[in-house]
Amino acid sequence: MPKPTFYISTPIYYPSDNLHIGHAYTTVAADAMARFKRLTGHDVWFLTGSDEHGQKIERAARAKGETPQGYVDKIVEGFKYLWTRLEVNYSDFIRTTEERHKRVVSAIFQKLYDQGDIYKAGYEGWYCTPCETFWPEGRLVEGNCPDCGRPVELLQEESYFFKMSNYAGRILQHIETHPGFIQPASRRNEMISFIKSGLEDLCVSRTTFNWGIPVPFDPKHVIYVWVDALTNYISALGYGTEDDGLFRKYWPCDVHLVGKDIVRFHSIIWPVILMAAGVELPRQVVGHGWLLLESGKMSKSRGNVVDPLVLIDRYGVDAVRYYLLREMPVGSDAYYSEELLVKRINTDLANDLGNLVSRTIAMIEKYFDGKIKEPAAPEELDQELIELAGQVPAQVEELMDRLEIADALAAIWRLVGRANKYVEETAPWALAKNPASRSRLATVLYNLAESLRLIAIMTGSFMPLLPQRIWSQLGIADRPELQSWDSLAWGRLPFERDETVVVTTAESKLSAPAPSVITVKRGEPLFPRIDPASLAGGG
Ligand code: MSP
Repeated sequence: MPKPTFYISTPIYYPSDNLHIGHAYTTVAADAMARFKRLTGHDVWFLTGSDEHGQKIERAARAKGETPQGYVDKIVEGFKYLWTRLEVNYSDFIRTTEERHKRVVSAIFQKLYDQGDIYKAGYEGWYCTPCETFWPEGRLVEGNCPDCGRPVELLQEESYFFKMSNYAGRILQHIETHPGFIQPASRRNEMISFIKSGLEDLCVSRTTFNWGIPVPFDPKHVIYVWVDALTNYISALGYGTEDDGLFRKYWPCDVHLVGKDIVRFHSIIWPVILMAAGVELPRQVVGHGWLLLESGKMSKSRGNVVDPLVLIDRYGVDAVRYYLLREMPVGSDAYYSEELLVKRINTDLANDLGNLVSRTIAMIEKYFDGKIKEPAAPEELDQELIELAGQVPAQVEELMDRLEIADALAAIWRLVGRANKYVEETAPWALAKNPASRSRLATVLYNLAESLRLIAIMTGSFMPLLPQRIWSQLGIADRPELQSWDSLAWGRLPFERDETVVVTTAESKLSAPAPSVITVKRGEPLFPRIDPASLAGGG
């Protein structure tokens, strides 16, 4: 049976400047989803890229005395470097200046024109260059952009328009009859009222600058950058070309993951373009909240942007990813501060998980010479731990299906917490004092080691480097059959009995020879505690 497919995209970022921790959040969240879907047996396509045209980029390049292409080339290198450092494992990176993209955008524009959905008229109205958005006078707030609050510019140009208004009824109906299409519900309601307040035709070309894709039938005009950019989600799959295998395989996209500020483009403008072009709509647009600073929004002009590379150097990639994913519930904003990041590292990672690993491994070394011994029949306390370990994977899967990434991590941490409590309840150090409790001690340590194996499997989508580090301490680094999602069933971890190794599952008992003995081995602390005092003034 072919694997089910799963296609997830991030926004394609403007290379007007380097990316900050807020952008990193979106891409890390999409990467965690993509990894999780791969782990649970899907054939995944994960697309990211860069949105390189438009007035904003042209001006940024000019301000530096560079050509737009030369300017974006350097910044895009930086994007790719950041994704590598963040362990972001995308399937493809699309740049809107690539030929493969430009020809698809041109062809769609031509098609919409040919069928009468695009017409020429005079435009007089307002434009927000930072947001690359046209605004009718009536939507301005105190004369400024209603999205970002910055000043708008008056445009008077001859332009092409796309007949959005013709599609208002259809897009409204689609949103209303597909409750999952826009998530969370608060965004969906905003979009419904936006459409109900009147969908105007969209200005889709500009003539006062030329850094863009030319209108194919009137090259004095360049295509509006959002129409250009949104098309990346299908141009990257070869839509409309002779090589459209990826499009046929992965479209419609399962999730367009975007920030709340650009939900409107993805859930109204993009679907209407697709309707007009006769292409199926994406399944879901998820608009996440913003990562804010106490002082407000992060922006270059305020000089308060947080560089993810600095944090990775300081704390390691897994800790940075954990913090971003754990701190940000979908649908609401979250505050970033280095103090909070350090607090998460010290409590969740160093205290809860790190200690669980180090004391489990240390006890197995101390009491059983590093060998994992056969457990006896479970007692009530063991049963509670085993039951929870049986429930958490399904909970994680369900939460991830709803993109509730922070809650999925919380569910895994319930098992971490339960295992720590189990250590306290069973007090292995006390059992070790009594030779008659040896079998009980073996059982307790087996259960702890097995919990660690499962926790490692479940954390890998969020913290890609962590599982191998735990598995190597457990002595199973080279045992992929003990690392898969399917191996989450309790009791697969091999143990030692009377000098022979036995694996508890029926299949492996049949498959002689028995697997080699595993020996745990203490390693570096997974997450060294950070002294919060070291932050003073250093943030
Ligand atoms: N180029 C467009 C997207 C085109 S997609 C076809 C764009 N680029 S952007 O670089 O300005 O922003 C990209 C994404 O980063 C948006 O989803 C935006 O919400 C997100 N974020 C920017 N700052 C952010 C935070 N401080 N916090 C969370 N996300 C943030 O828009």
